[in-house]
Amino acid sequence: MNKFVYMDASASWLKPQSVIESEVGFLQELYANAGRGVCARAGKVDDLIANSRQIVADFIGVRCENIVFTSGTTDSLNRVVNIVKNTIDKKCPVVAVSDLDHHSARLPWEMCAKNGECEIVVMPLDENLNIDVNKIPNADVFVITGMSNVLGVQQDVKEIIHHIHMKNKNAITIVDAAQSVVHSKLDVCDMDCDFLCFSGHKIGADTGVGVMYIKNPDEWNLDKFGGGMVNKITESGIVFNNAPEKFEAGTMPLTQIIGLPAAIENLSNWNGGQNLIHYMYDELSKMKNIKLLSLRDACMITFVVKNMHVLDFGALVGANNICLRVGNMCATWIHKKMNIDGSIRISVGPWNTMDDAKYVIDTIKSLVG
Ligand SMILES: Cc1ncc(COP(=O)(O)O)c(C=O)c1O
Repeated sequence: MNKFVYMDASASWLKPQSVIESEVGFLQELYANAGRGVCARAGKVDDLIANSRQIVADFIGVRCENIVFTSGTTDSLNRVVNIVKNTIDKKCPVVAVSDLDHHSARLPWEMCAKNGECEIVVMPLDENLNIDVNKIPNADVFVITGMSNVLGVQQDVKEIIHHIHMKNKNAITIVDAAQSVVHSKLDVCDMDCDFLCFSGHKIGADTGVGVMYIKNPDEWNLDKFGGGMVNKITESGIVFNNAPEKFEAGTMPLTQIIGLPAAIENLSNWNGGQNLIHYMYDELSKMKNIKLLSLRDACMITFVVKNMHVLDFGALVGANNICLRVGNMCATWIHKKMNIDGSIRISVGPWNTMDDAKYVIDTIKSLVG
């Protein structure tokens, strides 16, 4: 069989033709740097970047000045740590994290804690492994995973932030939306977070581009310095550009930013693939050697196979041209919480068909069912 079934959308999205065409068109016909040139061609690039920013802003329900382009979720989340550290007076803030967190969201703060720059508290999860809004701890900063990349359940971020603000109206809230942005329309203003981060490559755009939403960009100190962010330098001081440009030092990933509108349009036309998820979930639940970890209505399926290491399972299905994610998925804490070392994840995108789903189920059945 030559068919290759890619069911690892949550790791990275296959690229729609329209994204590829946007990027190739730009590279072949229009390429120039942005924010620097005065010729018509450079002006056109500035317009394309402005258009991408507007479309991203509309996508999550915010204004353009709140959208900073970065190189990805990991970059955004690490930058937020530095921006917060560069701004707040408190020398050792209390930072609340949770076991749902991806390494990208929690490790930067864990490293600060190791250096004595913050103290970590862990937000308790309820019996369904969602953040327990009734047990929000006292903290200065909150890291909220919008959707675990292992369990695939949307957290009620608005409600969580509401409870956080009831405890501490000045608390800083940071949302990792790398997975949640894929599966439902986020109304970020309504959520009322201070920062929200996601990656282009998980929504069908290219690698190397990400978004860092900042609610009040002028309240925060900068973390990066270089070209493209300075308005003027005089004897009396340095004047930076307005937000968001002042947060975008250096040449940006222009091609990847220009691919974002097509990716967002493609994602907006997708039905979420829940019919495929339900079919596979129901079939897997009939197999005696499979232990499902995710819920039927989650956006991804996660499971383990009795008496088989997840890497062995990954190799076996891989030999049948099926691409799934296996391992700890950079989410060690939730695996620890479930008393396992790793798991197997199926996640679908618009390219997957019911034939793909049947092939995956038949293959798993023949291997371990
Ligand atoms: C929940 C979550 N946060 C953060 C990341 C990191 O994203 P990136 O590798 O694109 O920076 C991922 C990637 O899998 C993720 O699933």
